Amino acid sequence: MTTATTSRPTTQAATANRLDLYVGIHKALRHFMTDTLHSVGRMDTRDSADLARTLGQFEDLMTLCEQHIHHENDFVHAAIEARQPRGAARTAGDHVEHFAHIEALRAEARGVAQADDATRPGLALRLYRHLALFVADNFQHMNVEETQNNAALWAHYSDEELLALHHRILASLPPSETMEVMRWMIPASSPAERAQILGGMQAAAPAPAFQAVLDLVRPHLDDGAWDKLARALGVPQQPGLVNVR
Ligand SMILES: [Fe+2]
Repeated sequence: MTTATTSRPTTQAATANRLDLYVGIHKALRHFMTDTLHSVGRMDTRDSADLARTLGQFEDLMTLCEQHIHHENDFVHAAIEARQPRGAARTAGDHVEHFAHIEALRAEARGVAQADDATRPGLALRLYRHLALFVADNFQHMNVEETQNNAALWAHYSDEELLALHHRILASLPPSETMEVMRWMIPASSPAERAQILGGMQAAAPAPAFQAVLDLVRPHLDDGAWDKLARALGVPQQPGLVNVR
């Protein structure tokens, strides 16, 4: 087993304030994965609307997982390998398995959609179990990335370089993918993280695009979380209020 190693020792205290490329997107993925797993588990296989909605969310998750793997391969793993050859070998190997796992799950989901009423419950339960194993694999994998891959990035790159890499990743995303990520990332993040992510977007994005993100995430935040976010961003806490600052 190949592991990413640092060229010099780093302590938790020394790395606590380093720029973390993984934390936000991985919180989004953990949220999206667990929500979808629960949705598949409680799906009413005799309700065509529930079936279509749940399998649609499942396919959206598979698509985002594929896109995420490509971004990590093209940007993050490439950066690690450029300064630490084979430093990303372990998680790159995981990615090959994840692509195959995604295709197998998609085939099972098609089987659920096409099944008759008698066989659909059994196939749905199989999909639920296998999606759970995919989620479990990804939870293990993301922890390796957040520890070993981050250690490699922090050993070989400055925060300024990592921030530039982060901006290149963000610039490569189509708007639809950015919106999908925000829908899951913002509710899964801490108040301070939400304020930082959306504050950056507020400063850089056109006002209508920023408003669209707020409208997207608002239904997924409780009132207390929304109040904290609105205060941090200086936007109305309730419709009709101009500014809370
Ligand atoms: Fe990964």
